[in-house]
Amino acid sequence: MEGSTQNVSPTRPKLQGYDFYREVLGSPKYVVAPMVDQSELAWRTLSRRYGAQLAYTPMINAKMYANNKRNGYHRPLIIQFCANDPEQLLASAKALEAHCDAVDINLGCPQDIAKRGHYGSFLQDEWDLIYKLINTLHTNLSVPVTAKCRVFPSLEKTVEYAKMLERAGAQIITCHGRTREQRGHNTGLADWAKIRAVKQAVSVPVFANGNILTHADIARCLAETGADAVMSAEGQLYNPALFVPSPSSPSGGLHPRHADLALEYLDIVSRHKTPTPPSGIKGHLFKLLRPALAREIDLRDALGRLRGPDLAPYYDVVREMKRRMDRDAEAEETATEGGFLHWVAQPYVRPLPVENETHVEEPPATVAKRPHSGRTPDPEDDDEVKRVRHGDVGQMLAPATALVA
Ligand SMILES: Cc1cc2nc3c(=O)[nH]c(=O)nc-3n(C[C@H](O)[C@H](O)[C@H](O)COP(=O)(O)O)c2cc1C
Repeated sequence: MEGSTQNVSPTRPKLQGYDFYREVLGSPKYVVAPMVDQSELAWRTLSRRYGAQLAYTPMINAKMYANNKRNGYHRPLIIQFCANDPEQLLASAKALEAHCDAVDINLGCPQDIAKRGHYGSFLQDEWDLIYKLINTLHTNLSVPVTAKCRVFPSLEKTVEYAKMLERAGAQIITCHGRTREQRGHNTGLADWAKIRAVKQAVSVPVFANGNILTHADIARCLAETGADAVMSAEGQLYNPALFVPSPSSPSGGLHPRHADLALEYLDIVSRHKTPTPPSGIKGHLFKLLRPALAREIDLRDALGRLRGPDLAPYYDVVREMKRRMDRDAEAEETATEGGFLHWVAQPYVRPLPVENETHVEEPPATVAKRPHSGRTPDPEDDDEVKRVRHGDVGQMLAPATALVA
């Protein structure tokens, strides 16, 4: 079901920690991650229909934020910023505080663009600055501030870091169980033991992020980390029904036909007044349809050629894909790699990085044998078609524009 729209009363008391988590957010367990160019309004709408209980906007750069006043975002919603200047961050966050339930600070982005811009995980060693960023929002915003971070190679330092985030005023900590160095081909597995240690060390709710590929991973992650919720990025992009249980399925979850999901997504895009950037639409379609694109080469190439906001050609590709998938399903072709049939939405399983690359640590026992999918976007990697050819459709990190929509 699509989320309800509501406007925040400026007089609503500012709740903290678990009171905020329960009473304002409704104790979510299934959270859609902030994703540049991918967790836009249309995608969030689709996600909420398929069980997402809380969603984050894509990261907005507090420096580039232009006064973008809108009403009626679906709730609950957390707006994420990246920043390195507390006053600039406060000004940008103030402009949007009435349109969200909390403001999150991105302390996890490991990409080169974040290094150049001095934000995300590249602040990870500047604890005074991070404290100030969080505390300025904690003290001055009418809504709570939350933080999304990566772990350090050392468990002890990770725990100290999380405690500092809490002291600064973060009311939820999302812990992505990978280090800053775990990116691109080095991504590897998230370390749930560190997330567990963080959860035990702080009193505010903790969201666990990393290694969620299928519905069954959710219960395993919650049990192993003790976290209050799981946040998913890539797993949820490849199967937006990731959060829907389906006990009869081997993965424990629902795997709708991907062309149906793609059509549903396009319908949402076409109905929203807020435009969805064509790059975002294309990125979603490449990921959704991925299980079949390697065999339907003409459709892959046609999708790759599409530019611009006219939805008609996107519909043409997806309708043709649906026709072929329905045909295959009727002919009952047998399952391909990973046991999934090529017409259903399914996780993209990447190989683990080669041994002994930087900071790839021993994975938690339960996920040690499973390859992982959680590669974050690579800004250098901007050709979707090329990536499908190379078996990789990770999304590029687009410049932050007015991304709340
Ligand atoms: C397409 C894409 C865009 C992302 N954009 C953001 C972002 O804007 N802010 C952020 O904190 N993390 C961002 N991330 C990282 C994810 O939120 C998440 O921390 C990471 O992918 C690990 O989760 P996963 O294993 O479920 O993919 C992005 C990831 C992807 C795949």
